[in-house]
Amino acid sequence: MQNFAGSALPQRIYLDYNATTPPRPRLRSRWSELLDVSGNPSSIHNESRVPKTILRETRQKIAEILQCSPLEIVFNSGASEGNSSVLRSAFDWDRKNRNEFLVSQVEHPSVQKTAAYLISQGAVVHFIPVNRDGIIDLKFIKENVSSRTALVSVMYANNETGTVFPVSEIGEIAHASGALMHADCVQMLGKSEFDFMSLNLDYATFSAHKLYSVKGTGFCYIKKGSPWTSLVHGGGQERGRRGGTENMTGIAALNIVLDEFKDCKTEISKMRRLRDALEEQILSRISGVTITGQAGPRICNTSSLVIDGVDGETLLMTLDLKGFSVSTGAACSSGNPEPSPVLMAMGLSRGEAQSSLRISLGWETADEHIARFVQALDETVLKLREINEEEKKKNYAI
Ligand SMILES: Cc1ncc(COP(=O)(O)O)c(C=O)c1O
Repeated sequence: MQNFAGSALPQRIYLDYNATTPPRPRLRSRWSELLDVSGNPSSIHNESRVPKTILRETRQKIAEILQCSPLEIVFNSGASEGNSSVLRSAFDWDRKNRNEFLVSQVEHPSVQKTAAYLISQGAVVHFIPVNRDGIIDLKFIKENVSSRTALVSVMYANNETGTVFPVSEIGEIAHASGALMHADCVQMLGKSEFDFMSLNLDYATFSAHKLYSVKGTGFCYIKKGSPWTSLVHGGGQERGRRGGTENMTGIAALNIVLDEFKDCKTEISKMRRLRDALEEQILSRISGVTITGQAGPRICNTSSLVIDGVDGETLLMTLDLKGFSVSTGAACSSGNPEPSPVLMAMGLSRGEAQSSLRISLGWETADEHIARFVQALDETVLKLREINEEEKKKNYAI
């Protein structure tokens, strides 16, 4: 049988927590219990009792963390489904009178592509600009929100740069015109302490695999009374808000890890200390490095770098071979790497975006990982720059 441990081999150093997080040790140790959650929560007989209890308990745990009502939480397959559902629900709400949307230029593809779909259905979408520091253009929002606006949708924290948007202030602008407000909160939970209810959102989306649980599970906060259309038609699960038998393995796994999210101050301050140390060490050892979005507010674990004279993909692959997992922030499709649209939207040149590297830390990251990573990055950048110089010299000679 294949060994599924793959990249989780202990000698590797994983620094790509914004892409996904490994399951917590407490989840690994209780994994076999999840196989016993075999009943259907919608059944009437005895086997439905355990899954019903897990559903209720998990919903309650989320509600305690967010300080909302458990009835305002709907389970789904993840934040892509959550984001798509929110935008489509807002479109169905009152499309004759309110068919306009505002989304930022740096949203996740699940928002960008749903917005493109809504445009094809007659919606008008205003893409909110973001400057080089990652700061969102509030003036643009004020000028474009109107009584025609159905929804304003922005990320709370950006997955590529870690920039935090002033979601509560944006929500006030949206609400003043009677529009709805959504925040993609995927990258915020476990990386920042925030008072969710004070944000006064109508919708918020979350994903379990960014919370040290498993993939294929997420949840959406839908404020009581907010318009909602189920994207998945089915048997009336989740009070008719999301058809299909709930992913009980995923929800039971989430239940196990959620207790650690009630108070994660220690993890947050550790990640901040390590991320700051990482940036300090990189800047002092490697020349020609700039940190994207450093001037604005950022979550504690993310560092997006532009490294002059180095191709980000080559750097990533070389580091991978040396045992380090990081990312470029570039979407790599069918072997045709394109620079990150997020970085380009922030005003970075194509060359800068192609020289970018994202490092994202997690609860398991330790001082030793940072020291070993900086050493490897320093050596690799030096080597790649040397190779580039030699290539240039050869080209001159020809
Ligand atoms: C900010 C943000 N939103 C949405 C998603 C999509 O989440 P999921 O993988 O659960 O569909 C991601 C995942 O990369 C993300 O980082």
